[in-house]
Amino acid sequence: MNLVTTINSANHAQFDLAGYCHSTPNYLQTRARINYLLERYLSQDILTERLLDLPQQFETPQQRPWQKINWQAINHSQIIGIEPKLFLQVIASAVEIEAPIRSYSQESWGYLQTAHPQLARFMGGVTDENGKIIEVGIWEKEERQHAPAFSKIYQQLTGKKLQQKPNTVHGYQPTGNVRAEIYNHGVSRISSEWSAVSIYIWLMSHSTGALQMAIAQPLQDEVNHLGKFWGITRWGFGDSVFRRVIGSIYRLIRLLNHHQKERTSGQDIIKFSHLKYGIEIGYSLMKVMTQMCRWNYHLKADALSQVFGNSLSHTSLEVSPQSSGVVWE
Ligand SMILES: [Fe+2]
Ligand SMILES: [Fe+2]
Repeated sequence: MNLVTTINSANHAQFDLAGYCHSTPNYLQTRARINYLLERYLSQDILTERLLDLPQQFETPQQRPWQKINWQAINHSQIIGIEPKLFLQVIASAVEIEAPIRSYSQESWGYLQTAHPQLARFMGGVTDENGKIIEVGIWEKEERQHAPAFSKIYQQLTGKKLQQKPNTVHGYQPTGNVRAEIYNHGVSRISSEWSAVSIYIWLMSHSTGALQMAIAQPLQDEVNHLGKFWGITRWGFGDSVFRRVIGSIYRLIRLLNHHQKERTSGQDIIKFSHLKYGIEIGYSLMKVMTQMCRWNYHLKADALSQVFGNSLSHTSLEVSPQSSGVVWE
């Protein structure tokens, strides 16, 4: 009886949210863990469900609930197959990239408020006539938990408090071409969600136990946002434009260099001696994008119109029916 219990608990410890947990995984084993996580958290069904939730969010906004995190149980031994110092550098970068969320949400609100007030509310909430926030947007509510969560993980692992250095946010910059502005802003938000999903999946492939479970919470928020933003941007701008973005290597390079100068530690991961991890992160980025493209293939224009209505606000966007993308294909 005792023997059975021992075997069961030992087996249990070998499996975690990323599948089989090797004590020192090689490159192929880490890739297998990344793939397992993708099927678990970024399946076609999950993406569809996250997108279909958006109209409901417009009606009755509700924050995605988190599972309880056992902060006290997080410890060093749960970092798998990577030097803890490097793992911690990426956690520290995550804290910096996630802030300052209020500026990000107000930037989105500025871009979206005339063309899609419901989406603007989802992102940036509602303000009174003096610009004072009277309702916080759901996206902001979900996002503002991420930096503190990664800070807490960092503190739990190191015993030290992290000195935050938030990003600079440019804010809403009107150019006179509302359609192009919204399009570019949408692409930049999708890029951020895409990179966050890819990096958090990679972090989860190198962790286990309470540490891995803690990272799974922000990851699921980012998947939620990626599915929603991808779907609504596809609805508003069509597939042909999107394909250009996806195929653009320039955008990927820009993404990888995103705020590079402002990072205090994250760039170390790209050093030659850490090439293996750079390749793993690249693999994660590529696999997430492949999964999104597979899903995109099944997104049908008429189904999207049924979910979101016929088009973005035409008067404010000043576009002709022929050029407005998916709705008119
Ligand atoms: Fe986030
Ligand atoms: Fe997000």
